[in-house]
Amino acid sequence: MLNTNIISVSNYQSDENLIILSDKNKLDWAQTLLAARELGMLEKLAKEDAPYVVLNSGGRWIIVEFSADKADTALRAEAMRRNGGNRIAQLRNVKIDAATLVNHAGENLSAEYAEGLILGNYKFIKYFKQADKQASVFATLRVLDSSLSATELDNIKIITESVCIVRDLVNEPVLYMDAVQLAKEIETLGKAAGFHTEVFDKAKIEAIGMGGLLAVNMGSKIPPTFSIMEWNPENAKNSKPIVLVGKGVVYDTGGLSLKPTANSMDYMKCDMAGAGLVIGVMYMAAKLGLPLHIVGLVPATDNRPGENAYTPGDIIKMYSGSFVEVLNTDAEGRIILADALHYAKQYDPAFVFDFATLTGAAAVAIGPQACVIMGNADDKIKNMIKASGHETYERTVEFPLWEEYGEDIKSDIADLKNVGGSYGGAITAGKFLEHFTDYPWMHFDIAGVAFLHKENAYKVKGGTGFGLRLMRNFFETYLKNI
Ligand code: BES
Ligand code: ZN
Ligand code: ZN
Repeated sequence: MLNTNIISVSNYQSDENLIILSDKNKLDWAQTLLAARELGMLEKLAKEDAPYVVLNSGGRWIIVEFSADKADTALRAEAMRRNGGNRIAQLRNVKIDAATLVNHAGENLSAEYAEGLILGNYKFIKYFKQADKQASVFATLRVLDSSLSATELDNIKIITESVCIVRDLVNEPVLYMDAVQLAKEIETLGKAAGFHTEVFDKAKIEAIGMGGLLAVNMGSKIPPTFSIMEWNPENAKNSKPIVLVGKGVVYDTGGLSLKPTANSMDYMKCDMAGAGLVIGVMYMAAKLGLPLHIVGLVPATDNRPGENAYTPGDIIKMYSGSFVEVLNTDAEGRIILADALHYAKQYDPAFVFDFATLTGAAAVAIGPQACVIMGNADDKIKNMIKASGHETYERTVEFPLWEEYGEDIKSDIADLKNVGGSYGGAITAGKFLEHFTDYPWMHFDIAGVAFLHKENAYKVKGGTGFGLRLMRNFFETYLKNI
């Protein structure tokens, strides 16, 4: 849930809490606002290169944030976001009803600061008996910055709200967020934002033969769902749709190949973060009214070792007609995604992106600093993704999909097997997915970035919503280049 109300103002009262974005060398705004002693302190700290100054002036908070000395705009923007998130963390024990953000920095980075502050102010409070006592630091953020238009401010609201929707979906435990509930959330969000939804139940999934999704679901008491979201405004600029696919494993025990490492199951409610992201992106696209035709696909189930669970050694017939030898039931994400990727073919898509907490190998390779991408989309699309990743600081690193890696997933007795060898695990998972595509496609392995175990500025603990801001930036660039 978005915890901060953001409004535009044109002035502030003398008792309001202030957050002032400032250039270190231009402190003239402070002359009339601060007492001589406070001004002296501010000037001294600015000279000493302090990144920020917190003053409590007669019960009123005045926080001054200095712009970072970095040559790259994207790095300065990220520093601002981090400042926002860090200040919220520092003020967590002080309840401040409202504050006014004033831009005296000369550079237009108040949007980024507000973004960091609002995202850092997020808290998942549903499961506290006294939820109201868990309230966030700020209830209201007023923004005083004439360079920020009303639309831009509304957009910040939509984007931060969408990130928080993804976080909520991820933070919900499976006891509540099972595959059926996830489909209901999709329907509710579709109604709220204005995108179309259709949900296939188990009977329909059986009727069309999504054998991968059904196999993973066999150990579960709860039926699978396959949800289709569509945003197709009249002014859509793309003739062929963009299709987004999200891994919706609402909980991953590993199935009969039960997760082997101690505690590795503790956070496996996050295994639907790819689905959460696709849902959030659809919500954002509809709320922003993006002139793009976008389809979102979410195959959903839990992965459990119930009595009829699919087994290592099983051979399953996929929706595409290919047969897969299952050698590890914990490599389930690729199996349900494969059916969704095959389903995507009917749209004759411009390109397909899939998002999935797919492999521990991706997380081990680069940690929480970036997500792993791979695919066969053209360089134009790849470069746009990489540039958007840099600009939003939701960075991406491309792994190769060389032919040789395909050898690792060849089976002696079926078309494919669902695991490769000991090396290149993120890539062999990607190779598996590639088999089910016949269009320009990119795979985003978000296993390392979707869920954090410790707070990191505006990226709070738990679900991060990683990818939402990246996709927004990507869509804007794509629209300019279409
Ligand atoms: N859901 C996991 C991957 C994962 C790991 C997500 C860590 C988030 C954090 C996935 O289904 C899985 O279990 N992958 C296996 C594949 C292996 C059996 C080939 C893995 O990465 O160990
Ligand atoms: Zn797994
Ligand atoms: Zn999984």
